[in-house]
Amino acid sequence: MKNIVILISGSGSNMAAIARAAQKEAWQAKWGVRVAAVISNKADAPGLALASGLGLATEVLPHQSFDSREAFDAALMARIDHHAPALVVLAGFMRILTPGFVQHYAGRLINIHPSLLPAFTGLNTHQRAIDAGCQVAGATVHQVTAELDHGDILAQAVVPLLPGDTAQALAARVLTQEHLIFPQAVRAFFASRG
Ligand code: GAR
Repeated sequence: MKNIVILISGSGSNMAAIARAAQKEAWQAKWGVRVAAVISNKADAPGLALASGLGLATEVLPHQSFDSREAFDAALMARIDHHAPALVVLAGFMRILTPGFVQHYAGRLINIHPSLLPAFTGLNTHQRAIDAGCQVAGATVHQVTAELDHGDILAQAVVPLLPGDTAQALAARVLTQEHLIFPQAVRAFFASRG
């Protein structure tokens, strides 16, 4: 069995898109690929109920319970490794990861970022794209490396910026595309490994 562990902090809509694709396309029967667990660093993340509703096992590891970033990441690694994951997916997991964490999952750790990387790393990507006068915006699925929002690009989606766009309207337009490219990238990850 090839296990996927998905990390979330918020609404979990990307997590749900991956889980629904896995169910609809019978990834487990076809490739032995399944979502083994959804782990949140926030106990009140709405994505936890969404995951349960999809029949997925959920876990919570509050980062506030730890003295340091290193201590939290070490505990998180232990939780994740319990599932012996072939792939760890960051789906709106709003934590900066330590180099040790990233190194531990090198080659099997992917993230989705709401911009066309390498443009607009970091936060407030949609407002920054609007302020910069961009004509297009989008999202990127990429391998995670020690440098924030860098790493090989696995998939991208482009959407137009429309006159009068707000960050909220743009975010919603980008999110619908995230829900397409993230499951695609996960599928491709396993397809390329046979
Ligand atoms: C998504 O738009 C994702 O690209 C972004 O958070 C949102 C999570 O939504 N991720 C980042 O900003 C990472 N730096 P979701 O919880 O509904 O999937």
